[in-house]
Amino acid sequence: MLYGPLALLVTAFAGVLLGSGQGPKTTFEIRNHEFLLDGKPFQFRSGEIHMARIPREYWRQRLKMAKAMGLNSVGAYIFWNFHETEKGKFDFTGDRDVHAFIKMAQEEGLWVLLRPGPYVCAEWDFGGYPYWLLTEPGVKIRSNNPLFLKYCKAWLDELGKQVADLQVTHGGNILMVQVENEYGSYGDDKEYMGAIRDMIRGAGFDVPLYTCDGGSQIEAGHIEGALPGYNGGMGDGLKQTIDKFAEGGPYIVPEYYPGWLCHWGEKFPTKSTENVVRDIDWYLSNNVSFNIYMWHGGTNFGYWAGANMGGRFQPDITSYDYDAPLSEAGHATEKFMALRKLIQEKAGEKLPTMPPAPPVIEIPKIELSNSASALDVLPKPISSDSPKPMEYLGQGYGFILYRTRIAHGGKLSTKGVRDFAVVMLDGKTVGTLDRRWNESQIDVPARGQLDILVENWGRINFGHEMEDNLKGLVDKVTLDGQELRGWQIYPLPDFPTPQTDASPRDAPTVYAGHFNLAKVGDTWLDMRAWRKGVVWVNGRNLGRFFWVGPQQTLYCPGPYLKKGENEILVFDMQPSGNRTIWGLDHPILEETLPERARPKRPEIKPVPEFNPATALAAGEFPLDNGDHDVRTKTMKARYICFEALSSYNGDFASMAELWLLDAAGNTLSRSDWKVVYCDSEETSAENGIADNMIDDDPETIWHSVWSQEHSSLPHRVVIDLGRETAFAGF
Ligand code: GLA
Repeated sequence: MLYGPLALLVTAFAGVLLGSGQGPKTTFEIRNHEFLLDGKPFQFRSGEIHMARIPREYWRQRLKMAKAMGLNSVGAYIFWNFHETEKGKFDFTGDRDVHAFIKMAQEEGLWVLLRPGPYVCAEWDFGGYPYWLLTEPGVKIRSNNPLFLKYCKAWLDELGKQVADLQVTHGGNILMVQVENEYGSYGDDKEYMGAIRDMIRGAGFDVPLYTCDGGSQIEAGHIEGALPGYNGGMGDGLKQTIDKFAEGGPYIVPEYYPGWLCHWGEKFPTKSTENVVRDIDWYLSNNVSFNIYMWHGGTNFGYWAGANMGGRFQPDITSYDYDAPLSEAGHATEKFMALRKLIQEKAGEKLPTMPPAPPVIEIPKIELSNSASALDVLPKPISSDSPKPMEYLGQGYGFILYRTRIAHGGKLSTKGVRDFAVVMLDGKTVGTLDRRWNESQIDVPARGQLDILVENWGRINFGHEMEDNLKGLVDKVTLDGQELRGWQIYPLPDFPTPQTDASPRDAPTVYAGHFNLAKVGDTWLDMRAWRKGVVWVNGRNLGRFFWVGPQQTLYCPGPYLKKGENEILVFDMQPSGNRTIWGLDHPILEETLPERARPKRPEIKPVPEFNPATALAAGEFPLDNGDHDVRTKTMKARYICFEALSSYNGDFASMAELWLLDAAGNTLSRSDWKVVYCDSEETSAENGIADNMIDDDPETIWHSVWSQEHSSLPHRVVIDLGRETAFAGF
């Protein structure tokens, strides 16, 4: 349905002022296709900033920097799960004091675009939803589901109690409130969006409302009574698109991206200063309000980083630097300085001087002299016949260990690893299972005590995969096809400090050490000698590290450190023997290491070439995802070569499973098969090795290289059948 800006007038009147409540009355309204502040046209020059990603001690420095860059507003998601940590228990104290944060922005002369969700996305665990929603029977997220809406209402009401008095209508600095977040990318249920809008109103928010969506999603995502915004919108397209829903605007871009998010194992994305300046210049010149997302990203401390599901599981890195104008640690970047110059010129305002950047220190090598195997610091277990996801044990985040005994060695198999598991036999690591690579099988050599330590690597925060977001082991575990039962389950949200040095064994280990500081300041812990885990400094969880990068350092803010003695704890799931750590005076965020070597295949000479005359069979497959049987005359061979000559789209070849058939059409055993040659296998961006064609798992596939420079078709795979074998089709 189309609607004009008239609908917004009802919600638009506001009184009082940005300051202390004295002086002239401040009003904010949307009228005649303009934002009007005290009756004068107003353009949001806003920057997104998340209090939960910044130590409270630094909030003011960051806000002063926003002002100094020439921003007049900040956009602020408020993360539901950061405040309602347990069902019905709200925390708005200390680092979670939303009222103090918004008030501080007011003191610094900044208006606020409040973004309370309840869904936010934001590369934040579960898009801001509390984990306990996953265990509520009947809850359907982001939908018009009464139970879900009941929890949304409780959250919004509670937030209203905290900050409704900070709206411009009550003498505060909140000018607008966002309804949901990019809902058009998920669904098109106007009743649901209407319910969220009404709840926001019901919670006491009486300033104008808005929605945010990508251009093609506005139709589904906008809701009457809220101004539609266009994320990433630019140029004529922006105005034309918005005009369809709110003719003549005002135009607002609730998210303009000056950089981008980053997943482990990927290249750190950057955006050039030149392009960002060009875009912001366009907004300034065309009276388009904007919110730079992120203007200052900060850090996914603790276990708060979320994950995407773009074809495969993609957990976000700990740093949320985002290549944003203000760096993770609050330093002005080249982008910041260029934007400050631009805004100063365009807006013709004298901008305040920049506050000093927080001090930076280096920390010399620290020896972590105490250690304990994770297996030696286990809490009291919970017994269960089958493995249970952590949420059902009341655990939201961190690690969880599943223990049982096995009577013999064999193939251990589970599709339930969420998200990274270290498998141990009698306390020694046997191997790992990584959800990013769809790994589900591992050979366990003998009988003994089986331990599976599983890391919750961040809940999916975008798309319908969010609905399936339980963590730990979420499916049965089998050994040679036989289901394993009788588990002891140990929740490990954190670890006690080891007081002695238990000689480290080949298992996930907690290390502890102490260091003295004469002076505190921000530092970046160099994790390049470590493998995969989490660091705590003086009890503060600094977030995850993973050797693959691109993030190789962990930001340790000065306020987390003390003069005198400090304690550091490192949990490494795959200890390398290294026991030292040190602090650098700069971050390393752009060093991605190759994670997987392409399998070494024996040289085959000559490389088989397609020869129609001698081919066992040649033909085409239809364009579908189905299984296909191809019958041939009966023949015998030791090696078979499968060759893809052309493709329906792109220059790629792929296959999920390859079987041979006997004359009766039965599949032959593949137990002695080996892939001995493959000319092209994707191993960087996904696990696309050719061995996946014969691994009994149709969800893993062979895929020729796509993420990097690659050769074109044809692509070939040669399989050694182990012995001369008779077959009559495949
Ligand atoms: C979307 C969401 C944001 C964030 C960005 C990517 O636009 O609205 O919360 O996830 O993508 O950083």
